[in-house]
Amino acid sequence: MPNRFYVTTPIYYVNDVPHIGHAYTTIAADVLARFYRLRGDDVFFLTGLDEHGQKVQQAAAKADIDPQAHCDRLMPTFKDLWTKLDISYDGFIRTTDPQHQAVVQRCLQTLHDKGLIYQAEYTGWYCTFDERFWTEKDLEQALCPDCRRPVEQVSERNYFFRMSQFQDRLKEHIHSHPEFIQPDSRRNEVLGFLQKPLEDLSISRPKSRLSWGIELPFDKDCVTYVWFDALVNYFSGLEYLGTHANAPEFWPASVHLVGKDILTTHAVYWSTMLMGMERTLPQSIFAHGWWTVDGEKMSKSRGNVVDPFAMIKEFGTDAFRYFLLRQVPFGQDGDFSLSSFHSRYQAELANDLGNLVSRTLAMLGNFSQHMVPRSDPQTETELEHQLQQAASALSEKIEQHLRALEFHRALEVTLGLVQMANQYIDKTAPWILAKDPDKKSRLQTVLFHLAESLRFLTFALAPFMPHAADSMKTRLGLTIDMSTPILASGPIWGEYDYINPVTKGTSLFPKKDLPSTSAPEPASSPTASAATGKKIESATPQTPSDLTPSDTPLIGIDEFLKVQLKVAKILEAERVPKSSKLLKLQVDVGAEKRQIIAGIGKKYSPEELVGKTIVVVANLKPAKLMGLESQGMVLAAGENDMLGLLGVSEDIAPGTKVK
Ligand code: MSP
Repeated sequence: MPNRFYVTTPIYYVNDVPHIGHAYTTIAADVLARFYRLRGDDVFFLTGLDEHGQKVQQAAAKADIDPQAHCDRLMPTFKDLWTKLDISYDGFIRTTDPQHQAVVQRCLQTLHDKGLIYQAEYTGWYCTFDERFWTEKDLEQALCPDCRRPVEQVSERNYFFRMSQFQDRLKEHIHSHPEFIQPDSRRNEVLGFLQKPLEDLSISRPKSRLSWGIELPFDKDCVTYVWFDALVNYFSGLEYLGTHANAPEFWPASVHLVGKDILTTHAVYWSTMLMGMERTLPQSIFAHGWWTVDGEKMSKSRGNVVDPFAMIKEFGTDAFRYFLLRQVPFGQDGDFSLSSFHSRYQAELANDLGNLVSRTLAMLGNFSQHMVPRSDPQTETELEHQLQQAASALSEKIEQHLRALEFHRALEVTLGLVQMANQYIDKTAPWILAKDPDKKSRLQTVLFHLAESLRFLTFALAPFMPHAADSMKTRLGLTIDMSTPILASGPIWGEYDYINPVTKGTSLFPKKDLPSTSAPEPASSPTASAATGKKIESATPQTPSDLTPSDTPLIGIDEFLKVQLKVAKILEAERVPKSSKLLKLQVDVGAEKRQIIAGIGKKYSPEELVGKTIVVVANLKPAKLMGLESQGMVLAAGENDMLGLLGVSEDIAPGTKVK
C-alpha cells in the first residue's frame, strides 16, 4: 500500500491577477507533489480560488459586474499561470462550486447541532481589508494591527463558533506535535497568541451588509464568514475533485502550505473547527515568508508587483521555479530583484548546469560517436569514485531536505554535484585524452562517468525543473518514462544500459542579458521592466543591429573579393586567462597552423570546439588581444551576442577557399 501524501496551497482571492506570492506557494507545493509521486506515493495536490467575501464583492463592484461573473472572468488567468508554470494539481477548487457550498453547509449544521454555534450581539472593530473583527485592546494606534488600515466600529447580530472551548486542547496538541506548526519560530508565535484567552469566532455576516457568500443552513438572512467557507476547501475538495477513487481518505492533509500572514487562521481557526467537527488535524502547517521587491514591500500602489507571466516569458518556467526555491530558505522572508535573478540564472543555470550538459554531450558526440561508452574499471581513479559517491548520495539528501521543506538545500546539494562534475571535466581534460590513442579506455571511463552524472541530475531535477529534466532525458537518449516512480528505487549507478545515441541540442539555459538593459531602445523611449511593469529608462544606445538594410553602405564584388575566407579546422582551444569571452584557438588553415583569439567563450567551452570545421578570415592583419596575437578571425552569426560559429555542411579540407 503506497504512502499517501496530501498537499495544499491557500486558495487565492480572485480580487486581482496572480503575483509572485501566489506562484511561490504553488510552485513549492508542486515540487513536493512531483517529488512524492516520483517516490511512488499516492499524491493529492489541491489548489484553487477563494471566491466569496467582501474583497471579491468589492472588486466586482469596482468592475461593475456581478461577483460570479467577476470570478469567472479571473479564474482562467490563474489556471493559465498554473499551466505555464507546470503546476500538476490534482484538484482545482472554486468556493463557488455547488459541491463545496454543500460541504460548508454540512459542516455548519454539524457544529450547530453539537451546540458549538450560538447567536449573539457583537460590537467590535471591523477591518474590511482583513475581513475580521478586532477588540479594542487589539488595535494599534486605532488601526488594524495586521494591515494598519483604519477600522470601523460595527455592531451586529452574528453567529459564533465556540472556539474558546478548544484553547487548551489546541495548546496541548501543538506541544505534543512539534511538527504540527513549522518552522519553529512560527510555532512559538502561535503559542504566544494562545497565551491570551481565545475568543469565540464570528462565523456569519448579515446579508444586509454582505451578500456574497454561502447562506447559513439555519438562517437565510446570513452568509458564512469567508474564512470559515475557505478553510473547509481542504476537505471538501477531496470529496468531488480529482481522479482518485478514494480521495476523501487522503485526509488528514500531510501539509498545508501557507504564507506567514495567514498562519493564525490556519493554526487556530481551522484546527479548532476540525476539533469541533471531531476530525483529525492536519499533520503540519508550514508558514513561508514573504517576498519584498528590491528591498520594498510589494504593492500595487508602489507599482512593483512581480508578474510571474513576464518572468516566465523572459527566463522560462524552469528558471523561475528554480530561483524562487533556491534564493530563500522556505520560511524566511526574501528579496526579489531582477539583478539577483539574473546573476543566479547566469551562474547556476546557464554556466554551471547548462555548460555541464552541453560540454558532456559535445564530448560524447566528438569523441565517442554520440554513444555513451562503458567504463573500464582498470582506468578508474579516486576522482571517479568521488563522483559516483556524490551522485549516489544525492537522492537521499534531496529526500531529507524536502521532507523538512528545505527546498533551497535540496537545490544546493544538486548544484554541488553539477559543480563537481564540471571540475571533473577540467581535471580529467577529455580533449587531451582524445588525442592519445593509448588513453582510449580512460577517455571512455571519463565519458561514462559524465553521462551517469547527468542521468542522476536528470532524476534529481525532475521535481524542480520538469522541462529541463525532460530535455536532459531526451538528449541523453534515456528510455525512461519520467511520469513513473523513478525515485522509488534509484537511480543506481552503472545500472542503466545506454543504447541510444545522445544529442547535444541547443543551450538548455541560453545566456541572457539583464532584461532592463537588454532591449536596445532609443534612450528617450521608456521601456517596461519585464518583471514589475515599472517604467525604466533604457541605458543602451542604438546599436548597429538596429540599422535597417538601406542604411548599410553597398560594396562591389571586387571589394568583397579582397576578403579571403577559408575553411579551417580547430585543432586546440583553451580559455584566455582572466577573460570570460576570449578563447585561444589553434586552427589548421591548410598549408599552415594559425593562432586565432576569438570572442566565443560565452557560447562555447574549449572542449566542444576541438575538431570543428569553421570558416575564418585568413587575410586579416594580425592584431593583439589581451597581449596575444590573433592571426585571423572566425566567422560567427550574431551581433551583440555570438549565436553560433559558421561551419560547412560537407566534409571539406582545411585551407579550401570560401567565396
Ligand atoms: N484567500 C486567502 C487564503 C485562504 S486559504 C483557506 C488569502 N488569499 S490571498 O490571495 O490574499 O493570499 C494568498 C497567499 O499569498 C497567502 O499565503 C499570502 O501569504 C501569499 N502572499 C501574498 N503576498 C506575498 C508576498 N509578497 N510574498 C509571499 N507570499 C505572499 O489569503
